[in-house]
Amino acid sequence: MFFMTSSVDPSSFSPSRRSVLRAGAATAAVVGASTLVNGAIAKAEAEDVAPAAPEGHQVFQHGVASGDPMDTSVLLWTRATSHPGDIPGSEQGSEVKLRWEVAADEAFANIAASGEAAAVPGNDNTVKVDATGLQPDTWYNFRFTVTEGEYQGQTSPVGRTRTNPSTGVTPESLGIALTSCANWEAGYFSAYRDMSVNPEVDIIMCVGDYLYEYERGGYTGKSGAIRDHEPPHEIISLADYRRRYGHYRTDPDLQAAHQMKPWMVTWDDHEVANDSYNTGAENHDPETEGDYVARRDAAIQAYLEWLPVRAVPFSQGGKLYRTFNYGDLAEIVMLDLRTYRDQPMEFRNVGQIDDESRSMLGSEQLNYLHDKWKTSSSTWNLVGNSVMFTPVLIPPLDPETSGAVAELMGLPEEGIPYNLDQWDGFAAERRRLIQMMGDEGLDNIVFLTGDIHSSWACDIPVTAGRYPADGIAAVEIVGTSVNASNIDDIVKLPQRNGISQTAEQALMAANRHIKWIQFDHHGYCTVKVRPNEILAEWRFVEDKTIPNQPLYTAMNYRVVRGQGISPA
Ligand SMILES: [Fe+2]
Repeated sequence: MFFMTSSVDPSSFSPSRRSVLRAGAATAAVVGASTLVNGAIAKAEAEDVAPAAPEGHQVFQHGVASGDPMDTSVLLWTRATSHPGDIPGSEQGSEVKLRWEVAADEAFANIAASGEAAAVPGNDNTVKVDATGLQPDTWYNFRFTVTEGEYQGQTSPVGRTRTNPSTGVTPESLGIALTSCANWEAGYFSAYRDMSVNPEVDIIMCVGDYLYEYERGGYTGKSGAIRDHEPPHEIISLADYRRRYGHYRTDPDLQAAHQMKPWMVTWDDHEVANDSYNTGAENHDPETEGDYVARRDAAIQAYLEWLPVRAVPFSQGGKLYRTFNYGDLAEIVMLDLRTYRDQPMEFRNVGQIDDESRSMLGSEQLNYLHDKWKTSSSTWNLVGNSVMFTPVLIPPLDPETSGAVAELMGLPEEGIPYNLDQWDGFAAERRRLIQMMGDEGLDNIVFLTGDIHSSWACDIPVTAGRYPADGIAAVEIVGTSVNASNIDDIVKLPQRNGISQTAEQALMAANRHIKWIQFDHHGYCTVKVRPNEILAEWRFVEDKTIPNQPLYTAMNYRVVRGQGISPA
């Protein structure tokens, strides 16, 4: 998704740091008492997660992570920093031999699985191991220990992870923290800390923009750059991408989220470059930045090194799209909407959005998804989806509101009725998918989406112009950004300003299948999947410019099979 940044003047960050802190404290004071209690508990629990670092070189300074849980296995991750000069991307590391252990008990008295692994410079000293032979539907502790050399005996922080229930079993619930769009420079990651301690979260699902590729100050909102990221320049090479991942993974909130819950990830565009597609990206200039595919492959390599994901490198035939089963309760297909998609249309060719030959998924992934839907017998079919599927008609608005919406959604300033980077730009393929849902008789598909830095609850209509008469094909739940800019950041006004609210009302009026939009706040969405309903709970943070902010529940919606989404 493209966000114009030219209108942001870093010098406009006029309030002093102190006054910003005061303002944040005042805001926090007016949120509900239950919120503060909830936040205080979360903060206290979070402090247990990350004890003060001991002195000396820390081999496990980037923490631990787990991901891609199956019913008897889960992927474990760490980085073993071999010596103080072994900075991510520096290629200065040396091999570190490790032992990994998984145990159901905190004392690691009863080891459920263990083995040896080596962190090697070829993988930027990151390690991924597949811990197999575990019990289904079970929470575990895991850790790594250095077994040789100067730092022998150093042990990682203890991570928490879990396996999925086996098929044939219908668990009572699955809690997913739906997250996307975390921009280091835009502020702090309180949302990650909240999901790390939220007892309702079993799995963290990141649907893209885990990081941003820009240079320092290249993408900020009304508060300017709250903190600087590394490296200072736009990331293009393998070393650059590794450096940025490594820097993000020094954030204590992000570390806590990885340490305490297993993740399921897919990427969007910013893991490579803005508005990427199969052969290029809006933010890639081959004249000055070299071959796009080489850049993309470097970005993918770093992604696969730094995230707990099972995919193998694309050069070896790897694919990021994949499927998980959470017992018989949910089948979850994680899609890759960037690697195979056709180049976006020129805005002047908007009439071609119905072109049958244009694809977001690529034919292989489309067939894969169709096969999954054909054979699924799960209660719910969930789709991890990086850009919005729901049709969104942008209505005529006053110039100021129109400008803000255009900037948020990456539309040309002169205005256009569709966001061509989303599924709206691939309308023929979307129709094909809606047709498949009907052909297979599926009334249990829910898209879990990010990208748009705002919160949406949508019915996906069979035919947008004839909703609800023609029926509801599926539902889409869109989580807001962890902290990347949305409308109040763009227009440089307080949250819940007139422009944001006017835009929300106008969009809902023009799109009756869109039940709720909130354009201002940051946070995430807890998606609670149960056999008879899915509850979506949007949790917001008051002020992203201050660390360790509590989150509060802002809105709840309920999905009932075949009946769409409505307020809960
Ligand atoms: Fe984003």
